Amino acid sequence: METHEEFYNTHPPPLNYENDITKVENFVRCHKNEKIVLITSGGTTVPIEQNTVRFVDNFSAGTRGSASAEYFLDAGYAVIFIYRSKSLEPFVRHFVNDSLLDKLEIKNNKSIQVKEDKVEKLLPLLKKYKDAKASNKFISIPFTTLIDYMWLLRGSCMLLDSKYCLIYLAAAVSDFYIPPSEMAEHKLQSKDGPPVMTLHLVPKVMKAVTHNWSRQAYIVSFKLETDSMLLETKSKDALHKYKHQLVIGNLLHSRKYNVKLISPNDIEDILVTDTNKKNGIEIEKIIVNKIKTKHDEFINNI
Ligand code: PMT
Repeated sequence: METHEEFYNTHPPPLNYENDITKVENFVRCHKNEKIVLITSGGTTVPIEQNTVRFVDNFSAGTRGSASAEYFLDAGYAVIFIYRSKSLEPFVRHFVNDSLLDKLEIKNNKSIQVKEDKVEKLLPLLKKYKDAKASNKFISIPFTTLIDYMWLLRGSCMLLDSKYCLIYLAAAVSDFYIPPSEMAEHKLQSKDGPPVMTLHLVPKVMKAVTHNWSRQAYIVSFKLETDSMLLETKSKDALHKYKHQLVIGNLLHSRKYNVKLISPNDIEDILVTDTNKKNGIEIEKIIVNKIKTKHDEFINNI
Protein backbone atom coordinates (compact mmCIF):
# COMPACT_ATOMS: atom_id res chain seq x y z
CA MET A 1 0.00 0.00 0.00
CA GLU A 2 1.29 3.49 -0.78
CA THR A 3 2.18 5.72 2.16
CA HIS A 4 0.27 8.90 2.85
CA GLU A 5 3.33 10.91 1.72
CA GLU A 6 3.31 9.08 -1.64
CA PHE A 7 -0.43 9.71 -1.94
CA TYR A 8 -0.03 13.47 -1.43
CA ASN A 9 3.02 13.59 -3.72
CA THR A 10 1.15 11.98 -6.59
CA HIS A 11 -2.26 13.67 -6.22
CA PRO A 12 -2.23 17.45 -6.51
CA PRO A 13 -4.62 19.45 -4.32
CA PRO A 14 -8.03 20.39 -5.73
CA LEU A 15 -8.43 23.82 -7.34
CA ASN A 16 -10.23 25.43 -4.39
CA TYR A 17 -7.79 24.03 -1.80
CA GLU A 18 -5.78 27.22 -1.13
CA ASN A 19 -8.98 29.19 -0.71
CA ASP A 20 -10.51 26.65 1.68
CA ILE A 21 -7.40 26.32 3.81
CA THR A 22 -7.00 30.09 4.06
CA LYS A 23 -10.56 30.18 5.46
CA VAL A 24 -9.64 27.57 8.07
CA GLU A 25 -6.40 29.39 8.89
CA ASN A 26 -8.18 32.71 9.46
CA PHE A 27 -10.83 31.00 11.58
CA VAL A 28 -8.23 29.24 13.74
CA ARG A 29 -6.29 32.48 14.20
CA CYS A 30 -9.48 34.21 15.34
CA HIS A 31 -10.12 31.50 17.99
CA LYS A 32 -6.60 31.05 19.36
CA ASN A 33 -6.72 29.49 22.85
CA GLU A 34 -10.45 28.85 22.56
CA LYS A 35 -11.97 25.43 22.09
CA ILE A 36 -12.31 24.56 18.40
CA VAL A 37 -13.76 21.40 16.91
CA LEU A 38 -13.11 20.11 13.41
CA ILE A 39 -16.00 17.90 12.32
CA THR A 40 -15.81 15.71 9.22
CA SER A 41 -19.16 14.55 7.88
CA GLY A 42 -20.74 12.56 5.06
CA GLY A 43 -19.27 10.07 2.62
CA THR A 44 -16.63 10.51 -0.11
CA THR A 45 -17.00 9.81 -3.81
CA VAL A 46 -14.51 7.81 -5.83
CA PRO A 47 -14.90 8.71 -9.51
CA ILE A 48 -14.41 5.98 -12.09
CA GLU A 49 -14.01 8.35 -15.08
CA GLN A 50 -11.93 11.54 -15.34
CA ASN A 51 -14.91 13.36 -16.85
CA THR A 52 -17.02 11.95 -14.09
CA VAL A 53 -20.44 10.59 -14.82
CA ARG A 54 -20.19 7.68 -12.41
CA PHE A 55 -18.60 7.17 -9.04
CA VAL A 56 -18.49 4.76 -6.11
CA ASP A 57 -19.84 6.22 -2.89
CA ASN A 58 -19.70 5.57 0.84
CA PHE A 59 -22.74 5.32 3.03
CA SER A 60 -23.41 8.37 5.24
CA ALA A 61 -26.26 10.86 5.23
CA GLY A 62 -24.28 13.31 7.36
CA THR A 63 -26.74 13.17 10.27
CA ARG A 64 -24.10 12.41 12.90
CA GLY A 65 -21.79 15.21 11.83
CA SER A 66 -24.41 17.90 11.19
CA ALA A 67 -26.35 17.28 14.42
CA SER A 68 -23.11 17.19 16.43
CA ALA A 69 -22.06 20.54 14.95
CA GLU A 70 -25.15 22.19 16.45
CA TYR A 71 -24.50 20.68 19.88
CA PHE A 72 -20.81 21.67 19.83
CA LEU A 73 -21.92 25.26 19.15
CA ASP A 74 -24.29 24.99 22.16
CA ALA A 75 -21.33 23.71 24.20
CA GLY A 76 -19.32 26.85 23.36
CA TYR A 77 -17.00 25.45 20.68
CA ALA A 78 -15.98 27.26 17.51
CA VAL A 79 -16.94 24.78 14.78
CA ILE A 80 -15.22 23.94 11.49
CA PHE A 81 -17.58 21.68 9.57
CA ILE A 82 -16.11 19.91 6.55
CA TYR A 83 -18.74 17.92 4.78
CA ARG A 84 -19.48 16.00 1.66
CA SER A 85 -21.36 18.35 -0.66
CA LYS A 86 -25.11 17.57 -0.67
CA SER A 87 -24.99 15.66 2.62
CA LEU A 88 -26.82 17.11 5.64
CA GLU A 89 -25.73 20.46 7.04
CA PRO A 90 -26.33 21.89 10.52
CA PHE A 91 -29.62 23.85 10.90
CA VAL A 92 -30.71 23.15 7.31
CA ARG A 93 -31.01 19.43 8.21
CA HIS A 94 -34.25 20.16 10.10
CA PHE A 95 -35.98 21.10 6.87
CA VAL A 96 -34.74 18.60 4.31
CA ASN A 97 -37.98 16.67 4.19
CA ASP A 98 -40.23 19.74 3.89
CA SER A 99 -40.40 22.04 0.94
CA LEU A 100 -39.09 25.53 1.71
CA LEU A 101 -41.64 27.02 -0.66
CA ASP A 102 -44.49 25.53 1.39
CA LYS A 103 -43.29 27.48 4.43
CA LEU A 104 -43.56 30.83 2.66
CA GLU A 105 -46.46 32.93 1.54
CA ILE A 106 -46.76 35.92 -0.76
CA LYS A 107 -48.01 39.16 0.78
CA ASN A 108 -49.92 41.65 -1.36
CA ASN A 109 -48.18 40.36 -4.43
CA LYS A 110 -45.12 42.32 -3.26
CA SER A 111 -43.24 40.58 -0.48
CA ILE A 112 -42.70 37.15 1.05
CA GLN A 113 -43.16 36.04 4.62
CA VAL A 114 -42.90 32.83 6.64
CA LYS A 115 -46.27 31.25 7.38
CA GLU A 116 -47.32 31.84 10.97
CA ASP A 117 -47.49 28.17 11.95
CA LYS A 118 -43.92 27.59 10.69
CA VAL A 119 -42.35 30.43 12.68
CA GLU A 120 -42.17 28.47 15.94
CA LYS A 121 -39.80 25.89 14.41
CA LEU A 122 -37.88 28.21 12.12
CA LEU A 123 -37.19 31.13 14.44
CA PRO A 124 -34.97 29.47 17.11
CA LEU A 125 -32.94 27.65 14.45
CA LEU A 126 -32.47 30.77 12.36
CA LYS A 127 -31.48 32.69 15.47
CA LYS A 128 -28.89 30.09 16.46
CA TYR A 129 -27.49 30.01 12.93
CA LYS A 130 -27.30 33.82 12.67
CA ASP A 131 -25.69 34.09 16.12
CA ALA A 132 -23.07 31.49 15.17
CA LYS A 133 -22.27 33.31 11.92
CA ALA A 134 -22.32 36.80 13.48
CA SER A 135 -19.89 35.73 16.21
CA ASN A 136 -17.78 33.90 13.60
CA LYS A 137 -18.18 30.65 15.54
CA PHE A 138 -19.04 28.50 12.54
CA ILE A 139 -17.59 27.82 9.11
CA SER A 140 -18.48 25.05 6.71
CA ILE A 141 -16.47 23.78 3.77
CA PRO A 142 -17.79 21.23 1.30
CA PHE A 143 -15.78 18.51 -0.45
CA THR A 144 -16.81 15.85 -2.95
CA THR A 145 -14.18 13.29 -3.83
CA LEU A 146 -11.90 11.22 -1.67
CA ILE A 147 -8.91 13.25 -2.91
CA ASP A 148 -10.62 16.55 -1.98
CA TYR A 149 -11.29 15.11 1.48
CA MET A 150 -7.73 13.89 2.00
CA TRP A 151 -6.29 17.33 1.26
CA LEU A 152 -8.82 19.20 3.36
CA LEU A 153 -8.27 16.85 6.30
CA ARG A 154 -4.49 17.18 6.20
CA GLY A 155 -4.49 20.95 5.77
CA SER A 156 -7.04 21.49 8.54
CA CYS A 157 -5.46 19.07 11.02
CA MET A 158 -2.06 20.72 10.58
CA LEU A 159 -3.65 23.99 11.71
CA LEU A 160 -5.25 22.36 14.75
CA ASP A 161 -2.30 21.12 16.74
CA SER A 162 -3.20 22.33 20.24
CA LYS A 163 -4.87 20.85 23.32
CA TYR A 164 -7.83 23.20 22.82
CA CYS A 165 -8.62 21.51 19.50
CA LEU A 166 -10.92 18.58 19.08
CA ILE A 167 -10.89 16.50 15.91
CA TYR A 168 -14.20 14.64 15.44
CA LEU A 169 -13.98 12.28 12.47
CA ALA A 170 -17.59 11.31 11.73
CA ALA A 171 -17.12 11.02 7.94
CA ALA A 172 -17.34 7.64 6.24
CA VAL A 173 -14.23 7.70 4.07
CA SER A 174 -13.65 5.30 1.19
CA ASP A 175 -10.95 2.68 1.76
CA PHE A 176 -10.51 2.24 -2.00
CA TYR A 177 -9.97 4.55 -4.96
CA ILE A 178 -8.85 4.69 -8.56
CA PRO A 179 -5.89 7.02 -9.18
CA PRO A 180 -6.80 9.60 -11.89
CA SER A 181 -3.88 8.30 -14.01
CA GLU A 182 -5.67 4.92 -14.24
CA MET A 183 -9.16 6.22 -14.98
CA ALA A 184 -10.78 6.29 -18.39
CA GLU A 185 -10.84 9.86 -19.68
CA HIS A 186 -14.45 9.74 -20.92
CA LYS A 187 -17.67 8.07 -19.89
CA LEU A 188 -17.33 4.29 -19.99
CA GLN A 189 -19.42 2.79 -22.79
CA SER A 190 -21.61 -0.23 -22.09
CA LYS A 191 -21.09 -1.43 -25.67
CA ASP A 192 -17.48 -2.18 -24.65
CA GLY A 193 -18.72 -4.81 -22.18
CA PRO A 194 -18.43 -4.89 -18.38
CA PRO A 195 -15.59 -2.61 -17.23
CA VAL A 196 -12.62 -4.14 -15.46
CA MET A 197 -10.86 -1.85 -13.02
CA THR A 198 -8.52 -2.26 -10.08
CA LEU A 199 -9.28 -0.27 -6.96
CA HIS A 200 -6.24 0.80 -4.94
CA LEU A 201 -6.12 0.95 -1.15
CA VAL A 202 -6.34 4.46 0.32
CA PRO A 203 -3.39 4.97 2.70
CA LYS A 204 -4.39 5.01 6.37
CA VAL A 205 -4.17 8.61 7.51
CA MET A 206 -5.30 8.15 11.12
CA LYS A 207 -1.69 7.58 12.16
CA ALA A 208 -0.61 10.79 10.46
CA VAL A 209 -3.46 12.68 12.18
CA THR A 210 -2.49 11.45 15.65
CA HIS A 211 1.32 11.28 15.29
CA ASN A 212 2.16 14.08 12.86
CA TRP A 213 -0.52 16.63 12.08
CA SER A 214 -2.50 17.11 15.32
CA ARG A 215 -0.34 15.55 18.01
CA GLN A 216 -1.63 17.76 20.81
CA ALA A 217 -5.33 17.69 19.94
CA TYR A 218 -8.07 15.55 21.48
CA ILE A 219 -8.98 13.09 18.73
CA VAL A 220 -12.24 11.19 18.34
CA SER A 221 -12.59 8.63 15.55
CA PHE A 222 -15.64 6.54 14.67
CA LYS A 223 -16.06 2.88 13.87
CA LEU A 224 -19.05 1.61 11.95
CA GLU A 225 -19.73 -2.13 11.86
CA THR A 226 -22.66 -4.34 10.95
CA ASP A 227 -21.59 -7.28 13.13
CA SER A 228 -21.95 -6.45 16.86
CA MET A 229 -19.32 -9.08 17.73
CA LEU A 230 -16.65 -7.03 15.95
CA LEU A 231 -17.45 -3.55 17.22
CA GLU A 232 -15.55 -3.46 20.53
CA THR A 233 -12.52 -5.37 19.29
CA LYS A 234 -12.11 -3.23 16.19
CA SER A 235 -12.58 -0.01 18.15
CA LYS A 236 -9.97 -1.09 20.71
CA ASP A 237 -7.62 -2.10 17.90
CA ALA A 238 -7.94 1.42 16.46
CA LEU A 239 -7.15 3.00 19.86
CA HIS A 240 -4.16 0.73 20.29
CA LYS A 241 -2.86 1.42 16.79
CA TYR A 242 -3.32 5.19 16.65
CA LYS A 243 -2.96 6.00 20.37
CA HIS A 244 -5.69 8.64 20.33
CA GLN A 245 -8.26 9.47 22.99
CA LEU A 246 -11.63 8.04 21.96
CA VAL A 247 -13.39 5.79 19.48
CA ILE A 248 -17.14 5.99 19.04
CA GLY A 249 -18.41 2.60 17.97
CA ASN A 250 -21.76 2.29 16.23
CA LEU A 251 -23.72 -0.41 14.44
CA LEU A 252 -25.41 0.41 11.15
CA HIS A 253 -28.97 -0.30 12.25
CA SER A 254 -28.86 1.06 15.80
CA ARG A 255 -26.57 4.07 15.27
CA LYS A 256 -29.33 6.63 15.88
CA TYR A 257 -30.06 5.46 19.45
CA ASN A 258 -27.04 3.46 20.65
CA VAL A 259 -23.27 4.04 20.54
CA LYS A 260 -20.29 2.98 22.63
CA LEU A 261 -17.68 5.49 23.79
CA ILE A 262 -14.47 3.50 23.94
CA SER A 263 -11.41 5.02 25.58
CA PRO A 264 -8.19 3.21 26.64
CA ASN A 265 -9.55 2.48 30.15
CA ASP A 266 -13.28 2.55 29.78
CA ILE A 267 -16.29 1.58 27.66
CA GLU A 268 -19.47 3.58 28.09
CA ASP A 269 -22.70 2.50 26.49
CA ILE A 270 -24.93 5.42 25.40
CA LEU A 271 -28.57 4.64 24.82
CA VAL A 272 -31.34 7.06 23.90
CA THR A 273 -34.24 6.13 26.18
CA ASP A 274 -37.91 6.29 25.20
CA THR A 275 -38.27 9.36 27.44
CA ASN A 276 -35.34 10.98 25.64
CA LYS A 277 -37.02 10.23 22.32
CA LYS A 278 -40.34 11.69 23.49
CA ASN A 279 -38.53 14.87 24.53
CA GLY A 280 -36.80 15.11 21.15
CA ILE A 281 -33.33 14.43 22.62
CA GLU A 282 -30.96 13.24 19.91
CA ILE A 283 -28.08 10.89 20.63
CA GLU A 284 -25.60 13.49 19.34
CA LYS A 285 -26.55 15.83 22.20
CA ILE A 286 -25.59 13.16 24.73
CA ILE A 287 -22.39 12.27 22.83
CA VAL A 288 -21.27 15.89 22.58
CA ASN A 289 -21.91 16.61 26.29
CA LYS A 290 -19.83 13.56 27.28
CA ILE A 291 -17.01 14.52 24.93
CA LYS A 292 -16.98 18.10 26.17
CA THR A 293 -16.39 16.80 29.73
CA LYS A 294 -13.62 14.49 28.55
CA HIS A 295 -11.98 17.25 26.50
CA ASP A 296 -12.11 19.66 29.48
CA GLU A 297 -10.36 17.05 31.65
CA PHE A 298 -7.77 16.54 28.90
CA ILE A 299 -7.08 20.29 28.73
CA ASN A 300 -6.80 20.63 32.50
CA ASN A 301 -4.51 17.62 32.92
CA ILE A 302 -1.87 18.80 30.46
O1 PMT B 1 -23.89 10.26 8.56
P1 PMT B 1 -24.79 9.22 9.22
O2 PMT B 1 -25.75 8.61 8.24
O3 PMT B 1 -25.44 9.76 10.48
O4 PMT B 1 -23.84 8.02 9.66
C1 PMT B 1 -22.83 8.27 10.61
C2 PMT B 1 -21.71 7.22 10.49
C3 PMT B 1 -22.26 5.85 10.76
C4 PMT B 1 -21.11 7.26 9.07
C5 PMT B 1 -20.62 7.63 11.55
O5 PMT B 1 -21.18 7.57 12.83
C6 PMT B 1 -19.40 6.69 11.47
O6 PMT B 1 -19.37 5.64 12.07
N1 PMT B 1 -18.33 7.10 10.70
C7 PMT B 1 -17.09 6.33 10.54
C8 PMT B 1 -17.29 5.16 9.63
C9 PMT B 1 -16.11 4.18 9.67
O7 PMT B 1 -16.26 3.05 10.05
O8 PMT B 1 -14.97 4.65 9.33
P2 PMT B 1 -13.58 3.78 9.11
O9 PMT B 1 -13.47 2.60 9.96
O10 PMT B 1 -13.45 3.58 7.64
O11 PMT B 1 -12.53 4.83 9.57
C10 PMT B 1 -12.15 4.99 10.94
C11 PMT B 1 -12.03 6.47 11.27
O12 PMT B 1 -10.98 7.08 10.49
C12 PMT B 1 -13.31 7.26 10.98
O13 PMT B 1 -13.47 8.16 12.04
C13 PMT B 1 -13.01 7.97 9.66
O14 PMT B 1 -13.71 9.22 9.56
C14 PMT B 1 -11.48 8.19 9.75
N2 PMT B 1 -10.82 8.14 8.44
C15 PMT B 1 -10.70 6.96 7.76
C16 PMT B 1 -10.01 6.90 6.55
C17 PMT B 1 -9.47 8.09 6.05
N3 PMT B 1 -8.80 8.09 4.89
N4 PMT B 1 -9.62 9.24 6.71
C18 PMT B 1 -10.27 9.28 7.89
O15 PMT B 1 -10.40 10.35 8.49
